[in-house]
Amino acid sequence: MVQAKAGTTASLEFTNNSTFHFPNSTFFKSMGVKMEELKSIQWFPGHMTKTKRKIESQLKLIDAVAILLDARIPYSSCNPDLRSVVNNKPRFVVLNKCDMADSAETQKWIRKFKEKNISAIALDCKSGKGLNAFIPTVKNVLADKIQSWNSKGMTGRTIKVMVVGIPNVGKSSFINRMSKQSRAKVEDRPGVTRGNQWFTVGKGFDLLDTPGVLWPKFDDKLVGEKLAFIGSVKDDVLDTEHLAGRLLEYLRDNYPEPLCARYKMTMQEISDIQGYEILELVGRKRGMLISGGEINTERAAATVLDEFRNATLGKITLDKADECTDVRI
Ligand code: G4P
Repeated sequence: MVQAKAGTTASLEFTNNSTFHFPNSTFFKSMGVKMEELKSIQWFPGHMTKTKRKIESQLKLIDAVAILLDARIPYSSCNPDLRSVVNNKPRFVVLNKCDMADSAETQKWIRKFKEKNISAIALDCKSGKGLNAFIPTVKNVLADKIQSWNSKGMTGRTIKVMVVGIPNVGKSSFINRMSKQSRAKVEDRPGVTRGNQWFTVGKGFDLLDTPGVLWPKFDDKLVGEKLAFIGSVKDDVLDTEHLAGRLLEYLRDNYPEPLCARYKMTMQEISDIQGYEILELVGRKRGMLISGGEINTERAAATVLDEFRNATLGKITLDKADECTDVRI
């Protein structure tokens, strides 16, 4: 469970300065926040509907949809509403930030998408690795269409692809990389309208940035937790010690070796204890003490979360392909 700091309202701030306001208390209740702490709930019900409408209205202008997901959480970073919004448009998946994900899991996810007849590629927009596969993948996805254009004499027609994805998944980085410029960054705040943004990325190839903000969907507490682990939600609204404890439990159960190696712990030490106790152990091993010899668990939590988020703890995937029955697309 994710725990919000006592007194926070039913909203979450994202690391790109956007704020998501919850429609009801369900999510925070699931995070252990009491009802009286939910007094100042604000919700802008129009936002998601507006983005959906915008995406729908642009579908006629484009040939395919590139769905950007975070390779560490291919399930949790996918807004399941997209399936109906994108409707019958050819689509494919870009697993971005694969430099921080478990490569074996990324390959499993690519196979899983393939089983569902969805092409998927792995990308690392930090280094540009995998970028060369993008245009060939689009051409492959649109092979029948391109053949039909050619037969009608429309050879060389510009291919138009809409890039969609929740905030922080790397859309701007991807578009910047593809178009080799730095114009893609725009504000993702409720109330700030994003205009249509087309980018030419090569001869006969245009990308359209997501019109509007496609919020992540906190439809299950584990999804919310994973979005918080990767740092999509600003830590100052969350109980970071609780969050780090939950992350440590996950790492203990799924990636014990890099975890133990990093914090010089043994499996015997951590196999039967709760997340918070693992956090205390990390603090003790790192000498994070405050006056009186107490462990500075706040500092330990910040260290664990940072080291996970910048992949110092290793390449880790939180959504396992074998455990997700649905790909949500
Ligand atoms: P968005 O438009 O979807 O909101 O995402 P954006 O491109 O702004 O990327 C969000 C953060 O993720 C940025 O880091 C960006 O550098 C990082 N990022 C994007 N793609 C990749 C990738 O493939 N691998 C890694 N490791 N990181 C990636 P930031 O700290 O917010 O900003 P910056 O100062 O690094 O640019």
